[in-house]
Amino acid sequence: MEEDERIQRTTRSPQETAALGRELAARAAAGDVWALVGELGAGKTHFVQGVAEGLGAASQVTSPTFTLLHEYTGGRLPLYHFDLYRLRSGEEALALGLEEYLDGDGLTVIEWADKFPPILPEYARWIAIELGEGDERTIRY
Ligand SMILES: Nc1ncnc2c1ncn2[C@@H]1O[C@H](COP(=O)(O)OP(=O)(O)O)[C@@H](O)[C@H]1O
Ligand SMILES: [Mg+2]
Repeated sequence: MEEDERIQRTTRSPQETAALGRELAARAAAGDVWALVGELGAGKTHFVQGVAEGLGAASQVTSPTFTLLHEYTGGRLPLYHFDLYRLRSGEEALALGLEEYLDGDGLTVIEWADKFPPILPEYARWIAIELGEGDERTIRY
């Protein structure tokens, strides 16, 4: 992965990060997998909220830290939102049925995707969010 060939965007509020999620959602196709990377508080969940809005998913995304998977239907594509933060092994993710979602008819977005890289397909699109000063975040995709 050549980092400098990727698009880089800076946001300065949670709303701007969500807006980028909305913008990118327009390009999502069935079966796409987006792997989100960034430390706690980077803005991954806000980004996914924007993706859900962009797809027109009816329900609001809440932080899936405790639930691992949120599923949003009713939009242009189903959205499968995983958060691997609390998982201890890739096997646990597979036991949740991750692969069936990846092969499914929706967009799968995975927070903490770098925890268990082997369980992600090689066609996953990696999206990195870096904390900057204050509310500044740098997003590479
Ligand atoms: N530019 C920004 N983009 C996203 N979140 C921001 C930004 N600036 C400040 N924040 C704050 O950072 C936190 C991001 O939280 P969250 O989206 O849950 O992060 P993560 O899922 O990566 O842990 C929130 O408290 C949000 O208000
Ligand atoms: Mg989160």
